[in-house]
Amino acid sequence: MSDSLHDAIQAEIAKYPDRRSAILAALRLAQAKYRWLSPEAFEEVSRCIDLPVAQCVAVASFYDMYFLEPVGEHVVEVCTNVSCALVGAADVVAAFEMELGCSLGSTSADGKVTLRPVECLGGCGWGPVVSIDHRYHEHFTADDVKPVVAGLRTSEGGH
Ligand code: FES
Repeated sequence: MSDSLHDAIQAEIAKYPDRRSAILAALRLAQAKYRWLSPEAFEEVSRCIDLPVAQCVAVASFYDMYFLEPVGEHVVEVCTNVSCALVGAADVVAAFEMELGCSLGSTSADGKVTLRPVECLGGCGWGPVVSIDHRYHEHFTADDVKPVVAGLRTSEGGH
């Protein structure tokens, strides 16, 4: 086990009366270290927080912010829920797919960008909402896609 991750999780656990309450923070720390939640990452979290691996996976799978599969250097997430869908989210998705050469839910061939669908990002009145490396962009349009992808292709990983 990596000591730094273990220590960081223990610091989170210390903030709560019940160590299991730190599960979200522990998952976030593990993902920050490994860039996704691999089986090994889940085992580390499980040992640190004293919850079965299956329960850690169940918690992580509920939230869009946890990556259960490897991702590219950058992660683009398009809200496809109803409010964003009504104002053009499908056009944004199609433009990303075209520009990246990959379909929603996959990673570009160069490994640079993962394109994911997400449920509501909480900006329903300002859609379509796109999260790029966890930074939200409102009123995103298909015309915004090309320069964004060009920027991501030339920059280091950001999540
Ligand atoms: S439906 Fe897209 S942010 Fe809420």
